[in-house]
Amino acid sequence: MLYPVIWQQDHVTLIDQTRLPTEYAVVEIRRYEDMAAAIQTMIVRGAPAIGVAAAYGMYLGARDIDTTERGEFLARLDEVANVLKATRPTAVNLFWACDRMLKTARQTVGNVAHIKQVLLATAQRINEEDIETCKAIGDRGLEVLPTIPEKLRLLTHCNTGSLATAGYGTALGVVRSAWQASRLERVYADETRPRLQGAKLTAWECVQEKIPVTVISDSMAAHCMQQKMVDAVVVGADRIAANGDTANKIGTYSLALVAKAHDIPFFVAAPLSTIDFQLENGTEIPIEQRDSQEIYRIGDTQICPPGAEYYNPAFDVTPAHLIAAIITDRGAVAPTELAQLQAQPVS
Ligand code: MRU
Repeated sequence: MLYPVIWQQDHVTLIDQTRLPTEYAVVEIRRYEDMAAAIQTMIVRGAPAIGVAAAYGMYLGARDIDTTERGEFLARLDEVANVLKATRPTAVNLFWACDRMLKTARQTVGNVAHIKQVLLATAQRINEEDIETCKAIGDRGLEVLPTIPEKLRLLTHCNTGSLATAGYGTALGVVRSAWQASRLERVYADETRPRLQGAKLTAWECVQEKIPVTVISDSMAAHCMQQKMVDAVVVGADRIAANGDTANKIGTYSLALVAKAHDIPFFVAAPLSTIDFQLENGTEIPIEQRDSQEIYRIGDTQICPPGAEYYNPAFDVTPAHLIAAIITDRGAVAPTELAQLQAQPVS
């Protein structure tokens, strides 16, 4: 299995996801500013992976705070968190991880050197927990996937695999679990314009793992459903509001509409940390707007005429009523039942 974020004694290595699949390169991160830049430029991407990377970023920032005075240390750690939080607005895991690190620092008794040690241990725990969480999502997903046909044809969007998490994946983790349980015939991977995470990353992961994968352009998904080539759709999430409305990679909403039109179940797979219980519904989810160059070009090639304007929201919101179930590490529930998970104690 791939691990996109690894702690190496005194620094972090990231698989550079902007270079895959043509080049496998690893980037060394030693300062929190460089971690913030890596998140912003999408060297590391995918909501859970961003959370793990940010947790290590918090430790790297803490390590460099040159004071033994607790109050000053905590104030400067707030500044580190603010820099990391300013990188990408939609994936709530980023805010969740930074806030968990801040809370840990505030609650730890002892001197600054001790707090720093505890922060490293907490980042490592967040990293390990995410892998366990993803495996649980995969198992829970198997419980709700259609039982007929025996071998499923699943369609997914963007990249939600090992690369998008600490390892294993969320929606692609469900695909992986289905494959391991001999319940998968094939996964269709939407290419996912503009950044092509499906064509570049999901396809690459599947080829590595020998999971049968067919890449389609985003515009082909409706046709594939109409042709009865798809048994279920499984996607990830960047932020889920309390009512189940789900922000995920741009194009997810149209997939959900088309799936509904063809009576194909549409599942969202995400860890509990992706649910933002403070937001009542999806209209409150901040949607990241990215550079128009992502639309204007494919790779280094300009495809649009100069003079035209471009609109580039990175995510859209799928209304809860289009979602059959939200598969989390604590179980799969209807979007209307998310509150039950919040109340449930961690096992
Ligand atoms: O812009 P990205 O590549 O970070 O967007 C990723 C997605 O939208 C994923 O579907 C989501 O983060 C879930 S990843 C397990």
